[in-house]
Amino acid sequence: MEAALEISGLSKVYRGLRKVRALEPLDLTVESGTVFGLLGANGAGKSTLVKTVLGICRPTTGHARIFGVDSRDPQSRRKVGYLPEGTHFAKYLTGRGVLQYFGALAGLSGSNLREQVIEKLQLVGMTDWADKKVTKYSKGMRQRVGIAQALLGNPRLVLLDEPTDGVDPAGRHEIRDLIGKLARDGVTIFLNSHLLGEVQSVCTEIAIMYQGRVLRRGAVKDIIQEMSMHNGRIQMVFRTGDLPATLPAALAQARRTDDGFRIDLASISEVPALIDTLRAAAVPVYGVEQYHASLEEAFLKVMDDGNAHGVGGTQ
Ligand SMILES: Nc1ncnc2c1ncn2[C@@H]1O[C@H](COP(=O)(O)OP(=O)(O)OP(=O)(O)O)[C@@H](O)[C@H]1O
Ligand SMILES: [Mg+2]
Repeated sequence: MEAALEISGLSKVYRGLRKVRALEPLDLTVESGTVFGLLGANGAGKSTLVKTVLGICRPTTGHARIFGVDSRDPQSRRKVGYLPEGTHFAKYLTGRGVLQYFGALAGLSGSNLREQVIEKLQLVGMTDWADKKVTKYSKGMRQRVGIAQALLGNPRLVLLDEPTDGVDPAGRHEIRDLIGKLARDGVTIFLNSHLLGEVQSVCTEIAIMYQGRVLRRGAVKDIIQEMSMHNGRIQMVFRTGDLPATLPAALAQARRTDDGFRIDLASISEVPALIDTLRAAAVPVYGVEQYHASLEEAFLKVMDDGNAHGVGGTQ
C-alpha cells in the first residue's frame, strides 16, 4: 500500500537574528495504517518536521509526499487532520463553535457539518461541555476539542503534536483508546510526544530525533527487545535471599542487584538448572523474570549515544 508519509532530504534552517538548523536533511517513511510516534527532547525538531510536512513552514531542502501527493500541492492535505502544539481558540467560541468554524474551513457544511461536530465531540467526551465557552475549559478539555477538530472530515492521516499535553490520567487513557480505535479503522496516526510510557502503549513504530536528526527508527517491540538483551543474550532477574560471598560457578557472570542478581542466559531453558544450583547453595529464590527494558530506557540510551558521538554539534 502507498505510504502515508514519505519524507526525502527534508531540512529546515530558520533564518532570523540567529540561524537555527532545526532539521538536518532527513528521510522518513510512515507506512499507511501505523501509529507512529516521533520522540525527542525539547527543541529536537519534532514540531518543525510536522509543520514542514504540512506546508506551514517552507522546507530549506527536500520534500514530502502525503499518500503519494507532493506536500507543496494543497490537495495533499485534503485527507489530513492536524492538532498543533499548544492550540488556542478564539475566546468567544464554544467547543461546538470551534468545531463548526474549523469544519467549515475544511469544506464541510449543512447537516454533514452539524452531524460530524456532534460525532467528534462525543468521540472525545466533550458533549456535555459543547455549549460552554472555551475560556471555561481546562487545558485538557481544550486539548480534547483540538483533537476533535483534527478528526473533522474523517482524515486518513492525523498528525497530533503533543495530544495529551495537560490532559489528566483518565483523559489520557481515553485519548489512548481513541487513537487505538482510529487505528483499527485504518487511520494513520503520527504523534509527537514526551510521554514515553504512553508512546510505548499506543505506537507501533517510532523515530527518535536528536538535534534535527533521526538517530533511531523502528518498531517499538524491536527497539525494546534490542534494549532488553545484553551481549546478544536474554537477561533474567532473580529475586533471592542474601547471596553467599563466594558465588557458585554458574553465577560467575551474575550482576548483583538490591534484592538478588541479574544474569545473561542463552535461553530461558537454563533457568531450572540455575534454580537447582541456588537451592543447593541454600539461596532461596523468591522470583524470576525476564528483564524487559522500557521505551524510556531505550530513549535515554539513544540520547546518550548521540551525545557520546557528538551528533549535531554547534550550529
Ligand atoms: N519559528 C521559528 N524561528 C526560529 N527558530 C525556531 C522556530 N521554531 C522553532 N525554532 C527552533 O528550531 C528548533 C526545533 O524546534 P521545534 O519546535 O521543532 O522542536 P520540538 O522538538 O517540537 O520541541 P518541543 O518538544 O519543545 O516541542 C529549536 O531550536 C527551536 O528553537
Ligand atoms: Mg514541539
